Amino acid sequence: MAKIFSGVQPTSIPTLGNYLGAMRNFVTLQDGNECIYCIVDEHAITVPQDPKEIQKNIHNLAALYLAMGIDPKRSILFIQSEVPCHAQLGWIMQCVSYMGELERMTQFKDKSKGKQSVSAGLLTYPPLMAADILLYQTELVPVGADQKQHLELTRDLAERFNKKYGQVFTVPEPYIPPVGARIMSLAEPTKKMSKSDTNRKATIFTLDSEKEILKKIKSATTDDEASIRYDREAKPGVSNLLDIFSLCSGRSVDELVTAYQNKGYGEFKTDVAESVINVLSPIQERYHNLIESDELDEILDEGAEKAYAMAKKTLSESEQALGI
Ligand code: ADP
Ligand code: NA
Repeated sequence: MAKIFSGVQPTSIPTLGNYLGAMRNFVTLQDGNECIYCIVDEHAITVPQDPKEIQKNIHNLAALYLAMGIDPKRSILFIQSEVPCHAQLGWIMQCVSYMGELERMTQFKDKSKGKQSVSAGLLTYPPLMAADILLYQTELVPVGADQKQHLELTRDLAERFNKKYGQVFTVPEPYIPPVGARIMSLAEPTKKMSKSDTNRKATIFTLDSEKEILKKIKSATTDDEASIRYDREAKPGVSNLLDIFSLCSGRSVDELVTAYQNKGYGEFKTDVAESVINVLSPIQERYHNLIESDELDEILDEGAEKAYAMAKKTLSESEQALGI
């Protein structure tokens, strides 16, 4: 049994990439593990957010977590800003971090590139993420490949703190799935699929209608070769669709390549879309029932209370170690 922690930002609706790369594993990891899942709203505000919009997204994300299969009887689900220990240990982690290592983070470089000014929070996002994880003495963190670097920093910060001030934090391991850790944009399959992509055709959102899903997959960028085989370098579009198809159908990529070797891209794409719809439509049905119910707030309040009890203990230990 392992202690698991992970989070998703309430920016827009989670994408198929968020689901296949991370959230689906949150659900399966509930078997036999102690899981804590967070709506990381304090991370979301490192870039400007519309207050009404983020409030709605927090509520929607909570309903989606449950609709995907997070069971509040077995796992803790809560909103980051409702447990003040995150910001408090986040500060301590900032003081343990070096400017240079934060400036070297790929996400910071990507998100600040070409901008006149960015918030200091964008730079100190990784120490806050470290705090999120370390507060719960987490052993395993299920994430997509894009978070690997932040997780390595989390490990470095935990080790640095423990070495300097005494053993306080468990050093966590990443859990990055072998397939699905990097679902690519449908429009530009050399870029990761992202919630914040301005080209709406590039991203499948988990609440997209059947019609939208079919349309987006039908217009996905492929190549002129007209052959269905797996080659991430030469055929990134087709390979991405094969990964999605495999994850959504439970059939291996090899099996799919054999089954579709004499078929055209049109038929292939229709079947990929159908497999995605089969995965997302039961989630959407549960989501629409949950979003109307008032049990959501209760679940989140209870989650915050349980999380607080655990987080407070680690925060106190870290302050004691620091002598503050
Ligand atoms: P985003 O990067 O889409 O804004 P978050 O930062 O909230 O989403 O990430 C939530 C989780 O989804 C993280 O574990 C992240 O690694 C994972 N993730 C994000 N994009 C993808 C993707 N394209 N493929 C696989 N996993 C992803
Ligand atoms: Na991300």
